[in-house]
Amino acid sequence: MRHLLNPLDFSVEEIDDLLALARDIESNLPKYAHVCDGKKLATLFYEPSTRTRLSFEAAMMNLGGKVLGFSSADSSSASKGESVADTIRVVSCYADICAMRHPKEGAPLVASMASSIPVINAGDGGHPTQTLTDLLTIRSLKGRLDNLTIGLCGDLKFGRTVHSLIEALVRYTNVKFILISPEELRIPSYIREDVLKKNNIEFQEVERLEDALPDLDILYMTRVQKERFFNEEDYVRLKDFYILNNQKMKLAKDDMIVMHPLPRVNEISVEVDKDPRAAYFRQVQYGVYARMALILTLLEVKVC
Ligand code: CP
Repeated sequence: MRHLLNPLDFSVEEIDDLLALARDIESNLPKYAHVCDGKKLATLFYEPSTRTRLSFEAAMMNLGGKVLGFSSADSSSASKGESVADTIRVVSCYADICAMRHPKEGAPLVASMASSIPVINAGDGGHPTQTLTDLLTIRSLKGRLDNLTIGLCGDLKFGRTVHSLIEALVRYTNVKFILISPEELRIPSYIREDVLKKNNIEFQEVERLEDALPDLDILYMTRVQKERFFNEEDYVRLKDFYILNNQKMKLAKDDMIVMHPLPRVNEISVEVDKDPRAAYFRQVQYGVYARMALILTLLEVKVC
């Protein structure tokens, strides 16, 4: 039995297979409509979510399966002190697979050790299914995962989706990064030293989005996360540091795409939504196909 706890749990070949399956699902949805008839997905969300929880639920329903679960710790027996290990032992009696979001890093790993069903980390700081979604979006809209210049912009310090995406993309050939952030939100040194430099990846760190835009194939925007700041004053000072608008989009290539894991706050002006290069809502749709492919892979459901 396999779990997905970290995006690097899958080899490049396994990721390629999963993305190929997701693309087949996108093209042939009816073929997959009953392949999980009789199966159940449990969504154990100890933290808020819109996209991840609902896209998992949509994914399982699209496969013919059913879903059950909770959407906050308060509405589960965690509020009475039940451990993650006990919870997953119980849920293993009700469901065939589960997706867990938890505020404590490592909670899905603890769950996987007590579980008799596959456990998917749906966000514990790391966010592997967002990375699968991002890889599928890039593969589908750019046609490749190599030979790309990717700008990552905003909160590169606390934005774990950015860290996971860098770790996943350094495994492909000739991928370059432009890391765009204010000084206070620069990428952590372990990513700079142990991931980028160690793998001889070309990267630059810049503060002005305008300086990077003309060179990019992909611009990946991120939200400055209020919940990560201890000091309200620092958050207020940094939250609107980057605002992508139509004026700035004029500096970008015609075939650049703009991605964002969402939710957004102010960092992408709504006027950009109408630009054909805005890919963040298509990215949401790819998240459903990526999760459908993941459920089938972990349940070892073969579809001819
Ligand atoms: N991208 C993402 O994880 O969104 P949610 O927090 O709404 O699930």
